[in-house]
Amino acid sequence: MRIDVLTLFPGLFESPLRESILGRAIAAGHLSVQAHNIRDWAEGRHQVTDDAPYGGGDGMVMKPEPVARAVRTVKQSCPEAMVIMLTPQGRTFRQADAEMLARRPALIFLCGRYEGFDERIRTSLVDAEYSIGDYVLTGGEPAALVMIDAIARLVPGVLGSEGSAQSDSFADGLLEYPHYTRPVEWEGQRVPEVLLSGNHAAIARWRRRQQLRRTRERRPELLATAALSDEDQEFLQTLERNDGPEQG
Ligand SMILES: C[S@@+](CC[C@H](N)C(=O)[O-])C[C@H]1O[C@@H](n2cnc3c(N)ncnc32)[C@H](O)[C@@H]1O
Repeated sequence: MRIDVLTLFPGLFESPLRESILGRAIAAGHLSVQAHNIRDWAEGRHQVTDDAPYGGGDGMVMKPEPVARAVRTVKQSCPEAMVIMLTPQGRTFRQADAEMLARRPALIFLCGRYEGFDERIRTSLVDAEYSIGDYVLTGGEPAALVMIDAIARLVPGVLGSEGSAQSDSFADGLLEYPHYTRPVEWEGQRVPEVLLSGNHAAIARWRRRQQLRRTRERRPELLATAALSDEDQEFLQTLERNDGPEQG
């Protein structure tokens, strides 16, 4: 997969893309990520990329011309790239979006600063707008890094032997089950016996029930859209009954 990021601060991407899983995936050629400075496409001696808003008010707005030139230049070498604008006004980025975007051959991320982009960028160049949550960042770079990280780990080969994304939270619409490692007892708390039993069927059943229990406790709204078997439904009903009013 090819990812291009258009930003006024390409240096913000250096260390996150050099370290750990993403760094190794890029070195191994599973994905390429290039951060480009929008200023390189700005004209004039001062290479200005922002200007005051029409109509007045605080803050500056990112000018359309340098951003458009940057997008069009990158698209010349990669016409199939999908252009994604980072904005708090976009659709909230979720695991299902990461799965869909990981199947694309190429993505271009537009990172805003100041008050954001001139509106005409959105209407003429952008395929999708994403927010990473209901809060406002100083710039789109941390949001792009969040999305790149979540997408890249779903690209085949990226996670390697370090784990599978298939059992992670949200992959099947539920939160993941809890994990334990050595020692068996720590500060008075023992690892659940079933995990020491070697009985794979019992472990799988325990984990599934933990997923259901956790999701119901922490994110009950996810249960409405998760794919649940009859056995799952029965277990949830048992939890429901156990929650009922105390018997006299
Ligand atoms: C200070 S924000 C601009 C906010 C904008 N004036 C508004 O109220 O919608 C500057 C840039 O940060 C990025 N940004 C801020 N919050 C974000 C979020 N929750 N998700 C994605 N990008 C965000 C966007 O690229 C945005 O253009």
